[in-house]
Amino acid sequence: MNLNALSIDDEKFNLLLIEAMCAEIGLQVHSFTDPRKGIEAFQRGLFDIVFVDYMMPSVDGITVIEEIRKTASDIPIVMITAVDDNTLMLRAIESGATEFLRKPVNMPEFKARTGNLLQLRKSQLLLKDRAKLLEEEVRKATEKILTREHETLVILGRVAEYKDQETGNHIARVAHYSRLIAQKVGESAESQEIIFNAAPLHDIGKIGISDFILTKPEGLDASEVNLMRKHPEIGYTILKDSDSPFLQAGAIISLTHHERFDGRGYPNGLMGEDIHLYGRIVAIADVFDALFSKRPYKNPWPLENIFEYLANEKGKHFDPRLVEVFLQSKEEIRAIHALFADN
Ligand SMILES: [Fe+2]
Ligand SMILES: [Fe+2]
Repeated sequence: MNLNALSIDDEKFNLLLIEAMCAEIGLQVHSFTDPRKGIEAFQRGLFDIVFVDYMMPSVDGITVIEEIRKTASDIPIVMITAVDDNTLMLRAIESGATEFLRKPVNMPEFKARTGNLLQLRKSQLLLKDRAKLLEEEVRKATEKILTREHETLVILGRVAEYKDQETGNHIARVAHYSRLIAQKVGESAESQEIIFNAAPLHDIGKIGISDFILTKPEGLDASEVNLMRKHPEIGYTILKDSDSPFLQAGAIISLTHHERFDGRGYPNGLMGEDIHLYGRIVAIADVFDALFSKRPYKNPWPLENIFEYLANEKGKHFDPRLVEVFLQSKEEIRAIHALFADN
């Protein structure tokens, strides 16, 4: 490890002496006879130890120490002084001096005291490096966990959709459209992340609906429709007791994704902003993607027809403000659809 010293003394001879002793212990040194220039150099450069004389005509050693301490609390500062004065030493310590050397400085004392300080400095630098390294490792690990968690939630959502014969990437697209709307409507990064991870769970309750109803090719009768309409509450029951913000939001989304802005939805007939924002967002993303996808019973609608339909449903099925931001994001929508196209 290469360490650098800054040395300030108004007498050239003393600087040369310090330089010679630093050379002995392999320490690079930058010397200044003008204390002001020395302070400037300190502020510009990276130093690991400072040697400073006390008695200098323009600026005294204490002032130099005070200046340096303004920006560097952890660099050792050694005051070199001819004055044998306890009051001065106390003042120097109070201003931030770490160690003292008395003139004439002798080699063994210089080596011992400086050696100790540099040893400390080295461990300090190693610790800082280690902390940085660990921080980076933790960041990478957290990122990996989040990616896997999202993947797990998408797969969980797919389990339910698979039963419903909605294969392909519907779940992944709904997650992306939902995050897009949340972002455009000004939700925080954290909230966007939550809806991105929770939206895949919107139909998890279909696990509890009989295959007969889910796969019935012809229309459902009234009692079958009622059974089908239980899936929001089933999903809510499955997810509601978790501490995970993703699963909690999943519970809310499951319960509210079939509510309508005009109050004519199910299961609770909630109206307007009584429906949780996440439910209002996923409702748009889910319907949009269903219309834009091929299903056993229908071909994809042309994109312009879907946008027109959504615009017509402003204030009826959907929150008008959310439809508005969605319609303003056609480029992003196309990109998500292309990225997660069904084969
Ligand atoms: Fe649903
Ligand atoms: Fe869906």
